[in-house]
Amino acid sequence: MTPEILAEFDSWLQEARDHGAIHEPTAMCLSTCGSDGQPAGRIVLLKHHNERGFVFFSNHETSYKADDLATNPHAALCFYWMPLTKQIRIEGRVEKIADEEADAYFASRPRGSQIGAWASQQSRELKDRATFEEIILANEQKFAGRDVPRPPYWSGWRVVPHRIEFWKERDSRLHDRWEYTLDDGVWDRRLLYP
Ligand SMILES: Cc1cc2nc3c(=O)[nH]c(=O)nc-3n(C[C@H](O)[C@H](O)[C@H](O)COP(=O)(O)O)c2cc1C
Repeated sequence: MTPEILAEFDSWLQEARDHGAIHEPTAMCLSTCGSDGQPAGRIVLLKHHNERGFVFFSNHETSYKADDLATNPHAALCFYWMPLTKQIRIEGRVEKIADEEADAYFASRPRGSQIGAWASQQSRELKDRATFEEIILANEQKFAGRDVPRPPYWSGWRVVPHRIEFWKERDSRLHDRWEYTLDDGVWDRRLLYP
């Protein structure tokens, strides 16, 4: 995206970070849709973004999103910051990030989260909580006294946008909306009716 669009996104995200009452300002709804045509949405955290796109991290092997993105590498992101009454929607193609980028982020995570990435077969059936706790303990013992490496199935995806929409609440539901769309390598801006 252009530096101007990125700056616009940054200023809204910064406002959300500065607000104080927004618990997870980087929380966004990630929507995917696999070959069965059934859309699915869930919250993930935005961990990195720049002119190339928007990066989140997850399990690339067992999760429902991994299944969906394997067959249809397109996704939508949606932020809503309630106290600001602002929404941003992003749509784009999804690509796996480079291993070095994933390694660097994984290394920065708290140790408990690193162990958790090894212990969780995200979205597979779990018999009971005690089973999970045993697996966590086994991984704590396995990695005791050394750095926890990134599991091969745990990494980031980047949403490379081709549409970004900004929405701001106004009185009487006469909201402000504008979208940027990428067409033949050129970003176009236009207003939309609310
Ligand atoms: C505030 C919040 C933040 C979350 N952040 C992430 C995240 O960054 N990555 C992730 O894989 N799941 C995250 N989750 C859990 C997901 O919503 C979801 O349960 C999980 O990714 C499995 O989804 P799936 O089976 O549809 O792929 C978060 C949930 C909440 C409520």
